Amino acid sequence: MTRRPLVAGNWKMNGLSASIGELERIVAGARMLANVDLMVCPPATLLARFAGAARGSHVAIGAQDCHAQPCGAYTGDIAAEMLKDAGASAVIVGHSERRQLHDESDATVRAKALAARRAGLTAIVCVGETRNERDAGRAHEVVGAQLEGSLPDGGHDFIIAYEPVWAIGTGVTPTPDDVRGMHGFVRARLAARFGQMAEAIRILYGGSVKPSNAKELLTVEQVDGALVGGASLKADEFLAIAGVYR
Ligand code: PGA
Repeated sequence: MTRRPLVAGNWKMNGLSASIGELERIVAGARMLANVDLMVCPPATLLARFAGAARGSHVAIGAQDCHAQPCGAYTGDIAAEMLKDAGASAVIVGHSERRQLHDESDATVRAKALAARRAGLTAIVCVGETRNERDAGRAHEVVGAQLEGSLPDGGHDFIIAYEPVWAIGTGVTPTPDDVRGMHGFVRARLAARFGQMAEAIRILYGGSVKPSNAKELLTVEQVDGALVGGASLKADEFLAIAGVYR
């Protein structure tokens, strides 16, 4: 089975109205990249404008988080249905910054992934071990438990992003061998749980992906694309990363 690669940009808490030019450059550059899906996940404040600017292109617009409930008394939170209404087609859930800074548990992440499904959004479910966990030889165990607890049953309509926490925003990346080992492990876990359907699930690598290391990281077996933070804020860098699939 061939999975179409996806390069998704996570803008985190960056971007104002003036950033729309960057998205427009991504949309223009995407025309030259027919073999890869592109996605930009701006802050919620920019979703509707970005969705408008990307309409008709193969650049999808995603959100960075959602609440598990469809509506209600949750001041400051945003429901998956609202993200969909604003023009998003996907939502990142369980990013390590949410897990760490907002104490999100696997159960919370799973509830959010289910909310995404309910709203018709593709969930990008993030998993990844810390430096200490890797050094203790527990990386597979930790990621295995996160997959077990964070993925919803009853479908295979999500995307996984393996993001070693120690590689996020640090400029440090795992070796291609380590990435191969982890992605193979995740693929095996998905197969054990979802059977043949697991073949369709894309597994992205994330953590300090840049134009200079994209080829080495993204051509590893079982790597179906990237979730890019810092380097996704600049159209040139983001397109150069996606250009690995030219
Ligand atoms: P980074 O972030 O590319 O800046 O390391 C990746 C992410 O957090 O998704």
